[in-house]
Amino acid sequence: MNHRRRNNVHWHSVDYDELSEEYDQVRSGSPEMIRHLVRGASLRPGSLVLDIGCGTANNTVLFAEVVDAIVVGVDLSGQMLAKAHGKAPGLDFIQSSVESLSFPGDTFDFVFMTDVIHHIADLYSTLSEVHRVLNRGGLICIVTQSRKQIEERMTSKFFPSTVAVDMARYAGISEIEKVMVSIGYTNVCSREHTLAPFRLTPDYLAIVEKKGYSSLHKINEEEFQKGLQAVRAALSRGDELRFLTKYTFVWATKTAS
Ligand SMILES: C[S@@+](CC[C@H](N)C(=O)[O-])C[C@H]1O[C@@H](n2cnc3c(N)ncnc32)[C@H](O)[C@@H]1O
Repeated sequence: MNHRRRNNVHWHSVDYDELSEEYDQVRSGSPEMIRHLVRGASLRPGSLVLDIGCGTANNTVLFAEVVDAIVVGVDLSGQMLAKAHGKAPGLDFIQSSVESLSFPGDTFDFVFMTDVIHHIADLYSTLSEVHRVLNRGGLICIVTQSRKQIEERMTSKFFPSTVAVDMARYAGISEIEKVMVSIGYTNVCSREHTLAPFRLTPDYLAIVEKKGYSSLHKINEEEFQKGLQAVRAALSRGDELRFLTKYTFVWATKTAS
């Protein structure tokens, strides 16, 4: 299959070693997201789980807290993993690119990736590598956002150029599904979940002030400052903004036979 390596103008990944401090100060995990993952994964005691692109382990920790399974995190960035270690000294974290994992084949029962796929250069290599390390009958779930879900974010209102940035960075849902099918995954299916509404709060201001969303590093400084002023003004007016937060969960199985 012809698969694309991303080489467009917006794609070049951000350097999470440089951003780890700010990221860890303002970003948190999502218990709702984890609830959907745990429900879909149907793990047994002792199952092996891999969180790819685990970052500072915000979601790894939430996941490990609610399952009776062995959870391992992998990330490219040593600085993100330093934060992860500090947060969860009992979990194993390994510095590696998802495109070449050091695990033997047929190892994990469940692999998940939350908010990572738009940083990945080569979708086919990545999903092939996950397929290799999954056990037969094992599951993968990619948590990402569709084009429409990107447009509906509060950040798209205040920082409109982030929409074009993320349209270019995020693989479309049907593209992810097609690549999965071409690799040999079965039961490929996508489900949209609506998480708690996202509101305009001082926490949101803190995230954007620290550029806690990578898309904010990819717009010009003038637009960034304009958006920031608009967020501050809306907060001080007491504007009650409420945006639905929707994610798409793309599930697939490594066939058992
Ligand atoms: C937006 S953060 C998401 C972190 C975490 N999954 C979460 O939900 O909080 C994206 C993470 O993907 C990691 N990443 C990017 N490219 C990667 C690659 N090729 N292999 C492994 N991790 C990668 C980055 O270092 C960063 O920590």
